[in-house]
Amino acid sequence: MAIETVGVVGGGLMGSGIAQVAAAAGFRTRLREMTPALASQARARVVRSLSIGVDKGKVTPEQRDATLGRLSTGTDVSEIATCDIVIEAVVEDLAVKTALWQELDRLAPPDTIFASNTSSLTIADMAVSSGRPDRVVGLHFFNPVPLMALVEVVRAITTSDATVRTATEFVRRLGKQPIAARDTSGFVVNRLLIPYMLDAIRAVEHGVASVADIDTGMRLGAGHPMGPLTLLDFVGLDTTLRIAEIMYTEFRETRFAPPPLLRQMVTAGMFGRKSGRGFYDYSVEPPRATPLLTA
Ligand code: CAA
Ligand code: NAD
Repeated sequence: MAIETVGVVGGGLMGSGIAQVAAAAGFRTRLREMTPALASQARARVVRSLSIGVDKGKVTPEQRDATLGRLSTGTDVSEIATCDIVIEAVVEDLAVKTALWQELDRLAPPDTIFASNTSSLTIADMAVSSGRPDRVVGLHFFNPVPLMALVEVVRAITTSDATVRTATEFVRRLGKQPIAARDTSGFVVNRLLIPYMLDAIRAVEHGVASVADIDTGMRLGAGHPMGPLTLLDFVGLDTTLRIAEIMYTEFRETRFAPPPLLRQMVTAGMFGRKSGRGFYDYSVEPPRATPLLTA
């Protein structure tokens, strides 16, 4: 089956990036959000990212305009249901994702592939209640989607060979590098990355060094493009907490357990960059480390 049209549900950090790369790769793309205001914000995020690309000489003004011309945004689920593949990037919550697939299954033709961008949920848990378990696959993109080359293609025990083939070919047409991952919570990358980021929070809790010095240490001492606390702010502390809870429930290993400081910051609305404050305060330029543990 050849994919021509792409539906994306959820236009936050990830969904807007996925919609951008799909439209940039030539697919007619429809992005659905919960409300008209959220749909406009999602489109504005794509416009901003493309404009930065133009400023940096990576995207031509013609490519920007053509990409935006192929992208429609709205709130109508029935428009999404007519796409050849639907990729969900809604909150990391099994109940929300399952309800979405059940709604879409009633509207979409039986051939439509359902792909989840989940970070930590098991694809089989969604597949079994989707009404089309052979056509459900994981497509795990990385943040920021337009710049990150990898997509994990996750095959559930119910996924057909044909679905995996079509999804893998689709990833290549997006210009991304696919890797095949088993349907185990966190797949390849988050299985290694989440304990690392949680350990960085534990290092803050234990007073190992300041937030800024932990980040500088991992950037300059280990060659990471961003320090772990900057990366947490980038991923979203709310999303990281959900991922850690899911992985801890799945494996019962303490390395996945959310540290108390993470929970407290999320309770306080400190979600990172998206809320303006997390380990850093983004209301000032350059962002300043947030004082967290002064007794
Ligand atoms: N459009 C097109 N190109 C762009 C662009 C845009 N909007 N913005 C930047 N670029 C280009 C730049 O021109 C530059 O290109 P060259 O290398 O050819 O010069 C390149 O992209 C890098 O851009 P910058 O120099 O501006 O930025 P940077 O070097 O600081 O890199 C980064 C930015 C890629 C985000 C880098 O900091 C990085 O890799 N950070 C780590 C990100 C990461 O680990 N993500 C994974 C998170 S975990 C996850 O996603 C999974 C999950 O389930 C939670
Ligand atoms: P986000 O909070 O930025 O965006 C989620 C969006 O989904 C919100 O804008 C919300 O309004 C929308 N939404 C919720 N329910 C919806 C529904 N029923 N219909 C339409 N829209 C709905 O979150 P995010 O960081 O983009 O994460 C989305 C998914 O991608 C999660 O499963 C997450 O685990 C995964 N993911 C996140 C990252 C990351 O670095 N943040 C990386 C890879 C994968």
